Amino acid sequence: MADNFDYDVVVIGAGPGGYVAAIRAAQLGLKTACVESRETLGGTCLNVGCIPSKALLHASELFHEASSGAMEKFGVKVKGAELDLDAMHAEKDKAVGELTGGVEFLFKKNKVTWIKGHAGFTGPNSVEVDGQSVTAKDIIIATGSSVAPLPGVEVDNDGGIIVDSTGALNLPAVPKHLVVIGGGVIGLELGSVWGRLGAKITVVEYLDQILPGMDGGVRKEAAKIFKKQGFGLKMSTKVTGVSVKDKKAIVSVEPAKGGDTEIIEADAVLVCIGRRPNTDALNLEAAGLKTNGRGQVEMDHRMQTSVPSIWAIGDVAPGLMLAHRAEDEGIAVAENIAGQTGIVNHDIIPGVVYTHPEIASVGKTEEELKEAGIDYKVGNFPFMANSRAKTNRDTDGFVKILADAETDRLLGAHIISSLAGTLIAQIAQAMEFGTTSEDIAYTCHAHPTHSEAVKEAAMAVLGKPIHM
Ligand code: FAD
Ligand code: NAI
Repeated sequence: MADNFDYDVVVIGAGPGGYVAAIRAAQLGLKTACVESRETLGGTCLNVGCIPSKALLHASELFHEASSGAMEKFGVKVKGAELDLDAMHAEKDKAVGELTGGVEFLFKKNKVTWIKGHAGFTGPNSVEVDGQSVTAKDIIIATGSSVAPLPGVEVDNDGGIIVDSTGALNLPAVPKHLVVIGGGVIGLELGSVWGRLGAKITVVEYLDQILPGMDGGVRKEAAKIFKKQGFGLKMSTKVTGVSVKDKKAIVSVEPAKGGDTEIIEADAVLVCIGRRPNTDALNLEAAGLKTNGRGQVEMDHRMQTSVPSIWAIGDVAPGLMLAHRAEDEGIAVAENIAGQTGIVNHDIIPGVVYTHPEIASVGKTEEELKEAGIDYKVGNFPFMANSRAKTNRDTDGFVKILADAETDRLLGAHIISSLAGTLIAQIAQAMEFGTTSEDIAYTCHAHPTHSEAVKEAAMAVLGKPIHM
């Protein structure tokens, strides 16, 4: 360690980017501290994001299966299934507590010092944490992101009527009607939770389709499936205001391109129109840094900013706002600081929407390939023709594989299936190794599994699926 610094590495933020970077830096022999202002470690993901939302998705799916009579055709009759929302929340909180406590244990095990408080830069090698100066040879910004506000709409999570994702993870009762503003990932996941527990769901989306950025075929099919599940989808519609009267939310909407105002009454409104990077109180100027036009801290492929001693990873930096991307950058940035070569392939980062069915993708969409003028082949295989999905009576969705027309190398894959999040890993790994669709088509896949649909979609790229 350079003698004149308190630490080799200080990480600001203990989300999946920051805590992973801190642990790897310590594993590499660097004296490391992590500053976190929250009461518990784990950032957005463990406290108010991935983990509590998945806990509620799992629990609400169990309730829905037990209460909807969906299991009767399999000979399983459940009488008198009841919702105990307090118990559901308690189990979710328990999972969060175990996982955030787990990060604290890992910090201790790896000798990472947790400095509790809020960090602001005082120079390129120093931050101030609640009045205390801390210096380091290298500083990693991993401050994540927060909910993007909707101008004119005031979120009050404690009030439980106009809420953001954090409030929607803790609603004390099931709203009769929940209006979701934004048909993106959070809207569909948390809309699914409350819909399964009995709420009527209306999604108001500014664009003409849900799930922006995903493959067009997937967006269309997903909309069909959510409508079948009872979601009201109001596309090409903008919210012009939300007010609260007599404990009801009054939502004013109009066509995105202008037109007559319509009023929707709801018991709760979830605002989820995206997230924005956390840089406000970082005092970046003191370190000689500026944010870009989108409020992000720019970094290069090594995750280094324009100030050599400062690095940036995760949601605060340009790229997909996903926990696993932040984690991989956390490992790579620590390795780069330690003089090794840390690399993240940003072209192959899978994304999963944890609804039922799940929606997963990796690599390019068909629209992106068209725009880039890349000649490609498509292989589609529906779960309706997959024996395991048929046996389970769970046939919504398909596998779509995109491969280069000339070389046959995989360019992207898009899956809707109850197991999509698990299936996509195989394709991400295959793409990382430069695999062709033929390689997948000639790999033996166990029968009967959903993964056979991946093999068949690869066979379809070559024009020769067996079961279709
Ligand atoms: P964060 O997790 O946001 O952590 C940053 C931390 O820095 C925070 O704890 C914050 O308190 C702290 N901090 C900020 N500024 C300072 C400061 N100046 N001083 C000290 N500490 C500071 N992603 C997935 O991949 N899968 C999912 O299933 C998924 N589900 C999600 C569900 C919801 C409801 C939400 C909101 C997000 C979800 N995400 C999911 C996104 C995921 O949570 C983020 O991409 C991920 O947490 C980003 O990690 P990060 O380390 O960059 O930042
Ligand atoms: P999002 O970007 O996924 O979706 C926001 C939606 O709101 C978009 O469809 C957008 O067109 C729409 N919108 C924007 N302004 C609007 C307006 N004024 N009126 C109506 N609609 C409007 O953002 P979301 O859902 O808030 O999630 C934020 C991020 O968190 C995601 O992009 C993702 O990176 C991460 N996340 C990931 C999850 C996962 O991996 N499973 C789960 C939840 C969140």
